[in-house]
Amino acid sequence: MSKTTTRGVVMDMTMLSCLLVLLFFPTLSYSYAPRTPSRLNRFSNTANVTSNYLTKQQLWLSQTLDHFSPYDHRKFQQRYYEFLDYFQFPDGPIFLVICGEYSCNGIKNDYIVVLAKKFGAAVVSLEHRYYGKSSPFKSLATENLRYFSSKQALFDLAVFRHYYQDSLNSKLNRTKTENPWFVFGVSYPGALSAWFRLKFPHLTCGSLASSAVVLAVYNYTEFDQQVGESAGAESKAALQETTQLIEQKLATNAKALKKSFNAAELQIDGDLYFLADAAALSFQYGNPDKVCKPLVEAKKAGEDLVDAYAKFVKETFGDSVQSYDQKHLKSTAVSDDDSDRLWWFQVCTEVAYFQVAPSNDSVRSSKVDTRYHLDLCKNVFGDGVFPDVTATNIYYGGT
Ligand SMILES: *[C@@H]1O[C@H](CO)[C@@H](O)[C@H](O)[C@H]1NC(C)=O
Ligand SMILES: *[C@@H]1O[C@H](CO)[C@@H](O)[C@H](O)[C@H]1NC(C)=O
Ligand SMILES: *[C@@H]1O[C@H](CO)[C@@H](O)[C@H](O)[C@H]1NC(C)=O
Ligand SMILES: *[C@@H]1O[C@H](CO)[C@@H](O)[C@H](O)[C@H]1NC(C)=O
Repeated sequence: MSKTTTRGVVMDMTMLSCLLVLLFFPTLSYSYAPRTPSRLNRFSNTANVTSNYLTKQQLWLSQTLDHFSPYDHRKFQQRYYEFLDYFQFPDGPIFLVICGEYSCNGIKNDYIVVLAKKFGAAVVSLEHRYYGKSSPFKSLATENLRYFSSKQALFDLAVFRHYYQDSLNSKLNRTKTENPWFVFGVSYPGALSAWFRLKFPHLTCGSLASSAVVLAVYNYTEFDQQVGESAGAESKAALQETTQLIEQKLATNAKALKKSFNAAELQIDGDLYFLADAAALSFQYGNPDKVCKPLVEAKKAGEDLVDAYAKFVKETFGDSVQSYDQKHLKSTAVSDDDSDRLWWFQVCTEVAYFQVAPSNDSVRSSKVDTRYHLDLCKNVFGDGVFPDVTATNIYYGGT
């Protein structure tokens, strides 16, 4: 029995023969809500290093647009990748790395490669529909997003799995042979990985679901509570005081306040959600000192907390807070940074994870509430767009 340990991930890899493996291990001490990638990438300075990819060679699959309609047979082009250097032809396992709410630019050189080497596996990866270059439409207008859901995405994975097995079989001049397939995913793709195994048990031997968000949550107040807990008493108090000062300034001189955060373009006060997010991201991605140290020091030195926070926020987001700007989220162009709009659509239709302030003792502003999120959904996508979280959990079994 061999065990591989990677960043807190413990996998029992004797399972590959054909067992279900569903592991849930938050990478941090609290559960992980998926972020839009443009924000995520700012915290990952390796995002642009090509040597971190095993392959960026794009391949294409003709995919069914609507898996749930018997009469709509339209197709779209979906991007995928394959890496066969370690594959033990012809019977080795096939690892399907599920891509999620971002442009999927290749197969990353991460722990999966270590496993692929060890098990002689082929590694393949499918871009999630609508993201990156896998957009079925030239415009992301709400009416074109009707085929955009995790349910359709799961069928994409199933179709891809069949297609790839068939192509491999014909390459090898054989029929009716099935390699053992194993699916992997982290965060939202972690949920897809678990759901795929549930929905299509005959198509995989197993599934690794890392930090998987399998339970949709409507008012996700626990997120802010965990930020407070992770910060510790001193930093939490400084963060709460900063929030109060920001709210006061917002009431008296909103323009100057927004300017001090390089956020003059934000029209809606609730868009100051990004101020809460800046701190939350530090905790979520393991850099608590980045926000705690300057605030606690400013507090001790009797300096202006809002200035200290503004400095931190500007270092975090640079000059751009555009991914929080509803004007930007309304843009229907297919572009490199359309994943902000796309993830919000998934939030507003299926999974919510509204990171609202708890009613007591919150770190973030109470302006970041349920109303703010529902208004955003309506403003950005139109009337009647709001998440039915109960339906999502009934569908997938989250309790
Ligand atoms: C990312 O890579 C591209 C292509 O090599 C390069 O043009 C660009 O400047 C890089 N961006 C950053 C932020 O390093
Ligand atoms: C494929 O297999 C068939 C049946 O065994 C054989 O007749 C044919 O020559 C093979 N083709 C190739 C390209 O190997
Ligand atoms: C979420 O919070 C809002 C506002 O506090 C409340 O009206 C609503 O009932 C809550 N919904 C759920 C599902 O907890
Ligand atoms: C509010 O939060 C404080 C600090 O965590 C706690 O001491 C208090 O009991 C809470 N009050 C309520 C009503 O939950």
